[in-house]
Formats: sequence, C-alpha cells, structure tokens
Amino acid sequence: MSIKKVVVAGGGVLGSQIALQSAYCGFDVTIWLRSEGSIERAKPKLERFKNVYIEDLEAMKTDEMAYCRGLIKKDEISDEKIDELKEQVQKAHDSLILTTSYEEAAKDADLIIEAIAEIPDEKIAFYQELAKYMPEKTILVTNSSTLLPSMFAEYTGRPEKYLCLHFANSIWKNNTAEVMGHAGTEQKYFDEVVKFAEDINMIPLEVKKEQPGYILNSLLVPFLNAATKLWANDVAEPETIDKTWMLATGAPKGPFHIIDIVGLTTLYNIALMNPEAQDPDSLQSKMIEKLKEKIDKGELGINAGKGFYEY
Ligand SMILES: NC(=O)c1ccc[n+]([C@@H]2O[C@H](COP(=O)([O-])OP(=O)(O)OC[C@H]3O[C@@H](n4cnc5c(N)ncnc54)[C@H](O)[C@@H]3O)[C@@H](O)[C@H]2O)c1
Repeated sequence: MSIKKVVVAGGGVLGSQIALQSAYCGFDVTIWLRSEGSIERAKPKLERFKNVYIEDLEAMKTDEMAYCRGLIKKDEISDEKIDELKEQVQKAHDSLILTTSYEEAAKDADLIIEAIAEIPDEKIAFYQELAKYMPEKTILVTNSSTLLPSMFAEYTGRPEKYLCLHFANSIWKNNTAEVMGHAGTEQKYFDEVVKFAEDINMIPLEVKKEQPGYILNSLLVPFLNAATKLWANDVAEPETIDKTWMLATGAPKGPFHIIDIVGLTTLYNIALMNPEAQDPDSLQSKMIEKLKEKIDKGELGINAGKGFYEY
C-alpha cells in the first residue's frame, strides 16, 4: 500500500504543522475540523506556519545555524533549490482542503492523523463517529502526548491499524516522530507509518511496546524533576546545577534552560500529577510551591522573557 491521501483531524498547534509538512512533502492533505469556527481559527495558524517555513528557508541561504532538518537535506542547499522550496511551501498551503464533514474527510483516506485536544472522552467520541466513514484500508494514528493507544483501540473499529505517531512541536526543525503501537497493532501498519514519517522528512523513532511518555518524555520528565528537586531542597542554585550537567557531560544546555524552553507551567502541571504531591510535607509539594511562586510572578520561561534565566 502506498499512502496518498492524508487527513489531519484538528487544526491546533500541532495539527496545522503536521498538515502543512505533509502537503509540503507531496501528500494530498485534508484537515478535518469540528466546526466552521475551528476552520476560521485554523486558517491564520496555517498562514503563520507557511510564512515561518518560507522565512526559515530564506534564512538557510546565509546562516548555517538556521538549518531546519525537516525542510531540506543539508547537501542539497543552494539558493536555487531554496527558491524552489519556497514556492513548494506556498503551493502546499494553497492545496490544503479544510472540511467539517467526516464523510468528505474519510473518503479514500489512506492515513488519518488525529491531533485533537488531549481529552480522552473527546478522542473516543471522535473515533466512534469516524469509524462509521473510514474505508477498510485507512490507517489511523494519534499524536497524543500522554495517552496510550490501548485506551482507544477498541473504539476505532480497526485496532490492528491503530497506533501512535508522536511529533514534537516545530516539526520542520525538531523532526522526531516516535512511532508506538499497542499489543494489537499489526507490524505491517507500524512499518507503513514509519515509512510515512520518513516521507515527510521526519526521523522515525521506533518504540517497541507501549510506554507512557514514549522515549523522550520517559527520559526528560524524571531528569527535569530531579533538577527541580535539587533547587527546591536548597541543594544548589539553578545556574550551578546547569553548569554541573553541561561541564560534566558535554551537553549544550542544562535542565533549567530546558525548563525555560518547555515552560514552567507544563512542568508544574506534570509535578501536580505525581502521587507524592498529596503529601504537603513532601519535597514534591515544596517544589510545586516554589514553581507556583515563579509562575505567579509571570516568570514562565523564554516566551515570557524570564523563567530561571532572563532573556
Ligand atoms: N502542543 C504540543 O507541543 C504537542 C506536541 C506533541 C503532541 N501534541 C498532541 O497533539 C494533540 C493536539 O495538541 P495541540 O497542541 O495541537 O492542541 P490545540 O489545543 O492547539 O488544538 C486542538 C485542536 O483540536 C480541536 N478540538 C478540540 N476538541 C475537539 C473535539 N472534541 N473534537 C474535535 N476537535 C477538537 C480544536 O478545535 C483544535 O483544532 C494532543 O493530543 C497533544 O497531546 C501536542
């Protein structure tokens, strides 16, 4: 089977990037949205990402540091090629079909990528409705960051063709794609999705069994948590902790710099979910309290101009 028609459900932060990237790489892309209002909200996002792609391509003509792995192979960079690709972005953007119709979206779909809000009941309702319209051949994937595919497989009407394809934000630069099935996913559909990820210039990372947080967040969350606890327990200042990590391992950034990029609110929300947060005398609770103090002062990270560092 070869994938031609791709449907992206949801036109939020990730859905709009996945749709544009897939069209840029030559696929026929339809975006399914739940209402006319969602269509109107998705349009400016698509326009903005189109402009970002074009600006980032242009920047690669003169600045080696501006290289975006999802847009072009490094050895293909030339002014002519970049001009060609800028036109390709515009064409990809103009080719996107936006619809609220399940029937129109699902018709002849080879792959449907679900990127709607991270709310289990809403994902289930979407899958149940979609199942009525999908042709036999359609592979269905979710971009869910935190939920497991086994939670949803039974509602899709095709558990063997259902799995996760998890992108990172800014997919044209941070082009990882974690591919993860559940126990009932058939290998051939897993392989198809890996191939599709490559075809849209992602680097597929195969996860061999279900794991909350995939590979990246299974490593990153405990790491950031450990750093934040050292700070909350007054063991060392954030600068000292970052310096230790960078000097001793050769890493380009320390944990507090990474927290500033991710945003303190996300870390705070994750910390609240830890069972230790139930005990008000725990270090976890102290850490939550200290994070909350910074959040209340508006020190949310890079986007706010200040987090653990000033920008
Ligand atoms: N933001 C990230 O950095 C990121 C990274 C990787 C994966 N994800 C995952 O991608 C998915 C989407 O995240 P996002 O950041 O794009 O969210 P978002 O809030 O920006 O967009 C959500 C989209 O889903 C639509 N939607 C919301 N509820 C719906 C419903 N009940 N039925 C149909 N459509 C609905 C909204 O209209 C919107 O188009 C989530 O599962 C999230 O975990 C997000």
